Amino acid sequence: MAHTKLFIPGPIEVSEKTLKAFASPMMGHRGKGFQDLYAQVQPGLQKLFYTTQPVFVSTSSAWGVMEGSIRNLVSKKVLNCMSGAFSDKWYDVALKCGKQAEKLQVEWGQAITAAMIEAKIKTGEFDAVTLIHNETSTGTMNPLAEIAAMMKRYPEVHFIVDTVSSFTAVPIKFDELGIDVMLAGTQKALALPAGAAVFAVSEKAFKKAETLKDRGYYFDFLEFRKNHESNMTPTTPSISHFYALRSKIEDIMEEGMENRFARHLKNAEITRAWVKKNGFELFSEEGYASVSLTCVKNTKGVDVAKMIAALKSKYNCIIDGGYGKIKGTTFRISHMGDESTANIELLLSWLDDSLKSI
Ligand SMILES: Cc1ncc(COP(=O)(O)O)c(C=O)c1O
Repeated sequence: MAHTKLFIPGPIEVSEKTLKAFASPMMGHRGKGFQDLYAQVQPGLQKLFYTTQPVFVSTSSAWGVMEGSIRNLVSKKVLNCMSGAFSDKWYDVALKCGKQAEKLQVEWGQAITAAMIEAKIKTGEFDAVTLIHNETSTGTMNPLAEIAAMMKRYPEVHFIVDTVSSFTAVPIKFDELGIDVMLAGTQKALALPAGAAVFAVSEKAFKKAETLKDRGYYFDFLEFRKNHESNMTPTTPSISHFYALRSKIEDIMEEGMENRFARHLKNAEITRAWVKKNGFELFSEEGYASVSLTCVKNTKGVDVAKMIAALKSKYNCIIDGGYGKIKGTTFRISHMGDESTANIELLLSWLDDSLKSI
């Protein structure tokens, strides 16, 4: 059966070139071949993170590193900024790691502001904050620059940022923003197969990790740093992801990072215009709409499942029918990764047709 093209917010479409790289033959991960491959992807990853710190590749989905961040950095109490399905869950994960945690909960679709976080952390109770930059469940992008600037006034509080669905869709400057841990999954805007995550850790965060005894092993940041010194990973990695990353970094550098960011913005703008034209509304608070996906408030009460079925049967592609408690009352269109503006325009015309047909 022909492949159903994905316009869901992850996993997304993976190019033939990337798939081919991903399918490269295996090699031993403790030999020169792998060490060379590891070293080859490093400068590209550092460019994408805007950092001089090492960038690690974890053979886990993003949650592995999200949990790891808690285990490596929290000894007092973590403040979990919560505004959607993924950010809400981070609080539960912190509790499951046996940590003290507190919620900073806003309505789904609302943005988290620097002032909200500052009001909590100025009490001195916290040694870490978790923030999801782009809440994929609601299509909301939090004001990272403003929050990061405020966080610099509280150096004792480690700033953990999930950029799972914004990484490489917008510039996120790890060093300049003073982030302590930044992580992303491979199946979102990077447009790689699912199953790996990339992350960077600040010197300050490494120092903090050194003081924690219950970091565990698989996601111990110090193990990653130690192995990095010889271009290796702590455990047998998904070697396939390293091949695919090398290929993808080539593609991104060929397109140009600025062009890539501009393309993502353009795709977001035309999708938002389609939302308006069709009498729907954005789910996210005004001014905070995501650049990598659009979460549409189903203000017209269309049968979302029917619309997606129509899209699939005629055009063999799918969008997402809403996530968690807003399933059906919202739907999500992904425009991240390799999608050209022409592709997104085509998808929007197919959506018009699907809407007419139901
Ligand atoms: C913003 C965000 N964070 C975390 C995750 C969890 O990623 P994974 O299921 O790949 O671990 C997702 C998944 O969609 C996400 O969108």
